[in-house]
Amino acid sequence: MERWSINDSAKIYNLPNWGADLFSINKKGNVCVHPSPTSKHSIDLRALVDDLIKRKIKPPILLRFMDVLQGRIAAINRVFRNAIEENDYPAKYQTFYPIKVNQQRQVVEAIAKFGKRYNIGLEVGSKPELVIGISFATGNGIPIICNGYKDTEYIETVLYATKIGYDITIVVEKMFELEKIIALSRKTGIKPKLGIRVKLSSKGTGKWATSGGEDAKFGLRMSEIIAAIGLLEQNDLLDRVKLIHFHIGSQITKIDKIKSALIEGTRVYAEMRKLGVGIEYVDIGGGLGVDYDGSKSSYFSSVNYSIEEYANDVIYQIKNICEDAGVECPNIISESGRATAAHYSVLVTNLLNTNTANVMPDFEETLNGAEKLAPTVKKLVDIYKSIDRYSLREDYHDTVQLIQEAVSLFNLGYLTLNERAMAEWLHGKILRKINGIVEKIKPIPEELQNFQLSLRQTYFANFSLFQSIPDSWAIDQLFPIVPIQRLNQKPDVMASIADITCDSDGEITSFVGENGRTKYLPLHKIRKDEDYFVGFFLIGAYQEILGDMHNLFGDTNAVHVTFNKKTGYKVDTVINGDATWESLKYVQYKGPEILKHVRDNLEKDVALRKVTIEESSHFLELLDRTLLGYTYLGE
Ligand SMILES: Cc1ncc(COP(=O)(O)O)c(C=O)c1O
Repeated sequence: MERWSINDSAKIYNLPNWGADLFSINKKGNVCVHPSPTSKHSIDLRALVDDLIKRKIKPPILLRFMDVLQGRIAAINRVFRNAIEENDYPAKYQTFYPIKVNQQRQVVEAIAKFGKRYNIGLEVGSKPELVIGISFATGNGIPIICNGYKDTEYIETVLYATKIGYDITIVVEKMFELEKIIALSRKTGIKPKLGIRVKLSSKGTGKWATSGGEDAKFGLRMSEIIAAIGLLEQNDLLDRVKLIHFHIGSQITKIDKIKSALIEGTRVYAEMRKLGVGIEYVDIGGGLGVDYDGSKSSYFSSVNYSIEEYANDVIYQIKNICEDAGVECPNIISESGRATAAHYSVLVTNLLNTNTANVMPDFEETLNGAEKLAPTVKKLVDIYKSIDRYSLREDYHDTVQLIQEAVSLFNLGYLTLNERAMAEWLHGKILRKINGIVEKIKPIPEELQNFQLSLRQTYFANFSLFQSIPDSWAIDQLFPIVPIQRLNQKPDVMASIADITCDSDGEITSFVGENGRTKYLPLHKIRKDEDYFVGFFLIGAYQEILGDMHNLFGDTNAVHVTFNKKTGYKVDTVINGDATWESLKYVQYKGPEILKHVRDNLEKDVALRKVTIEESSHFLELLDRTLLGYTYLGE
């Protein structure tokens, strides 16, 4: 058997490059999670999942590692602290967590609690998020920044929050919003703490590039900023402008785009200061990207910079521009969401064991000439026996042609079903033999790389792509997917991953591989009675809240885990996923009503003796159990 080590596995899934030193493979061949990049401690994911299943928590299970979340907050604050020291920057840095990235109560709670030491703030973009922000700020003094479109109710709530002592900044996104804010401020007599969002001509890159540039949805153009200054001055509110904000998009893949935005945004700050606006904060928005595929490139699932480089550039550029302009350096705020939350959650689920090899017909006897074969089948046998690396290309072409011939002959009635099945079986065998040869040829010729795709097998994973990783479907976002066990064994199948929704779009055919994006995921042949799990990594940002209920697959079970020196790990919270009745409730069905309706009808059939009492009650029992059960597949 070919030698295979855990290092080989780490390489083919590119784990060291996207794992940010938070994920590794242990000697048993299982994936481990570390609380922080420097930590010797780790949790064996497979052992954890086995323990959770013993606790009757069924897959798919969303694992939330709170230490990892805290570690990311600490890391972002650390790199900014270092950059401030290195550049001798004379002001402060502060993170504001954008709630939209993951609004789950326990997540925001953990961020608010742990973030206290960093004076972390919360960024909100709607009225529901404002309510969340206020609930966390109450009694804790957490500062809030309000972005997004705002109506009277939103603005009035912020004004009164300001009056009763909350540290809350309302960011003007549009001119009409400013007029509304001024009118309400006059009406209530309350002066808000104001921010102005600037529409930069600088643009980001990737899928969210249109968040920046002249056509961006939000922000004031330069002429509008001049108008806003005049309007605020007339209304005695100019001294309330404390912040300028810009955001050129999420997942900015190129550092030079970030630098351009920093230069332009800081120039606006400097000029506004010169006009006498007492701005104290420059809020650089989100955009700090995550290297999902580990390629360290400007490809849209990656980034060509590290968080250290990001922080250094932010501090350096802002200081440089301010010194040149002769204005005071501002305090700096970043609203890094993705970079804070992506790493902390992992979805683990089982692959369906579809191994039916024991019931499939075995045509092995065709190979030793035991049967009289149809000429097409005979030619396939000959190819299988003689193929080697020198005849590879020709034999491959012949095989493709022969298999087409077999289909035509079958349609014309010249091949029996059994003969066509033999041809199909031989075709698979030849392709696998070719692959064995191809794998030893480096580099693999392009035509034969595509050939490998024909060997790709579909594995079914017990999850909904639309619920758990919607960006994989919507924007072709790559998320690392890795089997969490047997990584000390060579994977022998090239797979794609299909989910259990009835949608052919619910399939993943692009994966993170050794050299960037690959078209198949290496997996192991699942043994009879084996439970085989895969993990979907870096899914903590945006996925949970964007997820939808295609086929009414609801929220998955979620488990919050913390590291524990003595016991390895501790389960802090288990949040049950949606039961079927809960999924149905979203679309206005009521479980008890359905049960009553079915029961009433069955009673009629019982009266007519079409159905027995036992059959009726057994069916109702099954229906009731289904309503109470998990929406995903059980045994
Ligand atoms: C105003 C604002 N701030 C912050 C963010 C968070 O961005 P990211 O997750 O890229 O850090 C967003 C999201 O696009 C945003 O619109």
